[in-house]
Amino acid sequence: MPTRLHVDVPHAHARGYDVIIGSGTLEDVPARVAAAAPAAVYALITPDDVVEPWGRRLAAAMLASGLPTELITTQPGEAHKTRDEWARLTDRMLELGCGRDCCVIAVGGGVTGDLAGFVAATYMRGVSFVQVPTSLLAMVDACVGGKTGVDTAYGKNLIGAFHTPRLVVIDPHVLSTLPLRELRAGLAEAVKHGAILDEAYFDWIEAHADAILALDDAALEQLIARSVELKAGIVMDDVFEHGRRAILNFGHTVGHALELRAAYALPHGFAVAEGMIAEAALGERAGVTEAGTQARMARVLAALGLPASASADITGLLESMRLDKKSRAGRPRVVLLERVGSVARDADGAWTHELNAEAAQHAIDGA
Ligand SMILES: NC(=O)c1ccc[n+]([C@@H]2O[C@H](COP(=O)([O-])OP(=O)(O)OC[C@H]3O[C@@H](n4cnc5c(N)ncnc54)[C@H](O)[C@@H]3O)[C@@H](O)[C@H]2O)c1
Ligand SMILES: [Zn+2]
Repeated sequence: MPTRLHVDVPHAHARGYDVIIGSGTLEDVPARVAAAAPAAVYALITPDDVVEPWGRRLAAAMLASGLPTELITTQPGEAHKTRDEWARLTDRMLELGCGRDCCVIAVGGGVTGDLAGFVAATYMRGVSFVQVPTSLLAMVDACVGGKTGVDTAYGKNLIGAFHTPRLVVIDPHVLSTLPLRELRAGLAEAVKHGAILDEAYFDWIEAHADAILALDDAALEQLIARSVELKAGIVMDDVFEHGRRAILNFGHTVGHALELRAAYALPHGFAVAEGMIAEAALGERAGVTEAGTQARMARVLAALGLPASASADITGLLESMRLDKKSRAGRPRVVLLERVGSVARDADGAWTHELNAEAAQHAIDGA
């Protein structure tokens, strides 16, 4: 039996949705979609590297179930999470005659979910949306929370909208075609969930690193379900990111800056792994984070084949951090752990701490 988690959305203009997790659930997508998101036509958006293993197969299954479906492909990768690609997709849907009663189904990684979600949020002022995440990062993180959007030359995700899906279906079997590097990148976000919220889960990941990397069904289902549960818990608590949701940005202040510097050539999860190490070092140096946290972080990341040390040249990064939208009044802010499993609040009770450039450089040099 697949795991079914329900995400409540405490907001007048949106409803809650189910997240279904289980090996083989791809087979049930047509029936589940027909029930959760009835539509006149389904625009199934999938990147070129997912269309052959999964996208086309799913579109055929939808059609075989009597659900009118248009398969629309996109170019894969962060470089195409753009307004240009959004324009191309919405033009294509207009050309196909999709109306207000259509539904967008994203079949792909986080890039596809964000892009197709932004299409769904804006097409004819918003149509229904279903997520079938196919990368581990999208499964454990991006598919929950309703954030959609595209990147700009000024930074990632700066143009977007909140748009909750009607349904999310996660079949870990599709990970069989995901490059190992991408699998590892997704695991960084799972480690983050343990680091900020659940020490037992953090330890469980370390103990099951080999099973996870070997794509063991049971291990993957457990991993994905726990991460979805933890992320959904935060999101339900703080739908519009006014406060506590900020803790999901652990590792991301430095991580985003690293991504920007690498012009997005560095996988998001690798940047986050390095960011978590840097931010743990920072917290320890500031006397906020329990001693030994950075070492524990490094151990689990190494077991998963992720970066387990921080890059030394953080100075230039700090300048680009000023552009991070989590900065308040131009000063970068950072999430610091109290210890593995819990986040430290600053003296004013905020979930983020002001980032001191000098202290950051010292911490990274010593990391
Ligand atoms: N909306 C959110 O809350 C949220 C949260 C975290 C991350 N994100 C976003 O997610 C994006 C990163 O997602 P990602 O790491 O999945 O990157 P991605 O979508 O670029 O996926 C990586 C590559 O793997 C391909 N791929 C995906 N599934 C596959 C499969 N099963 N088999 C073969 N190839 C497959 C993709 O098409 C892509 O080429 C970033 O843009 C980030 O901003 C969004
Ligand atoms: Zn992330």
